[in-house]
Amino acid sequence: MKRKGLLLAGVAFLAIGMVGLALFGSGIVSLSSAGSTPAARGAWIFRTGTDPNGQPIPFSGGMMMRASCADCHGVNGQGLRTPMFVSPNITYRNLTDPAGMLEPDGARGPTYADGQIRRAITQGIDAEGKPLAWPMPRWQLTDGEWNDLLAYLKTLP
Ligand code: HEC
Repeated sequence: MKRKGLLLAGVAFLAIGMVGLALFGSGIVSLSSAGSTPAARGAWIFRTGTDPNGQPIPFSGGMMMRASCADCHGVNGQGLRTPMFVSPNITYRNLTDPAGMLEPDGARGPTYADGQIRRAITQGIDAEGKPLAWPMPRWQLTDGEWNDLLAYLKTLP
């Protein structure tokens, strides 16, 4: 009896979750805390991987699961070490460092210009024209989303 109750509770919980997801996915319920400045909207994209209306931004490649920039590069974009991959510091300050971006292994990489940052994010090609490693998804950003994201990357310490 107890078991059955638990199971029912589990099923109910799952159902509620699925309805929630469906509403969210259909745009009936959308999170509108994306903000009104470019940097605030960029922060939203960075943390959620969704556009300011809560619609998932399409991407190809990357890992099996959907992940946001923050999930893989850390909440402040400083880079992460995980068992699956090591991700670089992608703050604007680091990417555009005239001495070359500081890589996770301490080496200096290329210096990025704005257009090259965009190409890395949308096409997975680094500032030297080389393909980025597979965990980095290729994101289909609109012009507006790119401008917002760039504005946000510039605010990161
Ligand atoms: C699933 C994990 C993952 C997600 C999600 C992800 N990245 Fe990455 N990203 C990586 C990894 C790993 C690299 C390093 C690839 C390499 O070294 O070749 C990388 C590289 C980059 C680079 C190139 C830096 C360099 O080393 O030349 C930029 C810029 C970047 N990511 C920005 C972003 C942005 C912006 C988002 C969100 C829109 C994002 N990434 C989402 C894992 C991820």
